[in-house]
Amino acid sequence: MKKLSLILVLAASAVTAAEASEGLAAKYACVACHQASTKVVGPPWKDIAAKYVDGSTTALQLAESIKRGGSGKWGAIPMPPQPAVSDADARELASWILGQKEQKR
Ligand code: HEC
Repeated sequence: MKKLSLILVLAASAVTAAEASEGLAAKYACVACHQASTKVVGPPWKDIAAKYVDGSTTALQLAESIKRGGSGKWGAIPMPPQPAVSDADARELASWILGQKEQKR
């Protein structure tokens, strides 16, 4: 019984963490240009996760490119820098984005 409730607590906190990151993506208006699986202005989270699943870009490096913005990796449209995003939030967003591969069908 104890084990079961521990599992439930862990499962609940995983959901909360994902929801918190989704909240960050909304707070910083990332969602204006990024969706889970549809290309809007920027690439969908799932495509980013799939591209870097080989480990060629770590969460830390991805957090850097979220803050600095970037261009030329995904197409003609550049991503503007996001100076309002704190280092901690950028890292959380980066790990959350990289984790979206598992949801791909
Ligand atoms: C104005 C539109 C816009 C906004 C707002 C935006 N992005 Fe982007 N994003 C882009 C575009 C366009 C690209 C592709 C750039 C390229 O081709 O290198 C991109 C690329 C990315 C990448 C891939 C970087 C890489 O190294 O491959 C990540 C991760 C990302 N965005 C996360 C975010 C997050 C998190 C936010 C919110 C804090 C955000 N973006 C806000 C347009 C946007």
